[in-house]
Amino acid sequence: MACASFAKLNAASFYSIGGHKSFTQRPGSSTSLATRTVSLPIRAGSFTDELIQTAKTIASPGRGILAIDESNATCGKRLSSIGLDNTEPNCQAYRQLLLTTPGLGEYISGAILFEETLYQSTTDGKKFVDVLRDQKIVPGIKVDKGLVPLPGSNNESWCQGLDGLASRSAEYYKHGARFAKWRTVVSIPCGPSALAVKEAAWGLARYASISQDNGLVPIVEPEILLDGDHPIERTLEVAEKVWAEVFYYLAENNVIFEGILLKPSMVTPGAEHKQKASPDTIAKYTLTMLKRRVPPAVPGIMFLSGGQSEVEATLNLNAMNQSPNPWHVSFSYARALQNTVLKTWQGRLENVEAAQKALLVRAKANSLAQLGKYSAEDESEEAKRGMFVKGYTY
Ligand code: 13P
Repeated sequence: MACASFAKLNAASFYSIGGHKSFTQRPGSSTSLATRTVSLPIRAGSFTDELIQTAKTIASPGRGILAIDESNATCGKRLSSIGLDNTEPNCQAYRQLLLTTPGLGEYISGAILFEETLYQSTTDGKKFVDVLRDQKIVPGIKVDKGLVPLPGSNNESWCQGLDGLASRSAEYYKHGARFAKWRTVVSIPCGPSALAVKEAAWGLARYASISQDNGLVPIVEPEILLDGDHPIERTLEVAEKVWAEVFYYLAENNVIFEGILLKPSMVTPGAEHKQKASPDTIAKYTLTMLKRRVPPAVPGIMFLSGGQSEVEATLNLNAMNQSPNPWHVSFSYARALQNTVLKTWQGRLENVEAAQKALLVRAKANSLAQLGKYSAEDESEEAKRGMFVKGYTY
């Protein structure tokens, strides 16, 4: 539809899934109730149905996302934790280990890749994208260009990457990506300032709109960092503010809510707060926040782990799935899926199989947590180790 006619309809318009939908005007409006039925088209372009289908596939019962979209610098941090150099072959070997894990598709519905991984192949010459497809895992891609200082703020940051995003997204789609990720951060100890929150929300909304226009389901991720000594109530307050603003701008940018996924932080006390919260308390605060802010049209909430231990992240997810939610509530973990895998692998060929088994253990545990059926009884000490790093950068 042309912009002008869309704008005229805008005040009353809404989206429907898969085509046209009718509604009748309310009594008291200029045209009487009985006489007029208006048929409005949905806003979206040619990808609408596909976006909705992709989001539904990713948000399917008992499955979640494996995030391995570490930039090369962050991949280097992972490797150095087990004494390996940050070289391209080491990064490639690690990513190959993760992506070729047999049986992964039972628990993992999507994998977020770093740009270079989208174009890479296994040492046998099979494209990583095809490895994923064979396991019915949807390939996704990190499209933001990282965080830089935000001038005029309280030492906060903003996320770059909108320039050229449309053409990059079209290219990623051509190479098999079907969803995207943009991570920006909000810091509680730094304020957050109104400027930083607005910038984060606006950037996410522009990115989401551009992604949908190019066939990629946007994962919307305003990470509220764990840093700080504040109580859980303060995190709730900030999260409500941030998500209110994010949805305001998503709507303003005509983003189709049925074709997005969210990647929120769980609502927890700051990492340096004197008291830790139980999984039940974290679940209560997090679900309260989400129910106040997220429309049920959104198909999936895929949490980040943010420095929690593997077991903590799984227990918290499990607690959130003890009763039905309006959306699929699941995981999109990096650190909380990879920690034991790395420690088991140690960069040695002979450990690859054991490391892949370790990944399956974590993926299955989180799959059970998505279904609300996880128990931490047999978990290892390594899996209980926290991974919070103050001022962590991705
Ligand atoms: P973590 O689960 O390590 O917090 O990862 C978050 C993320 O955005 C990776 O895509």
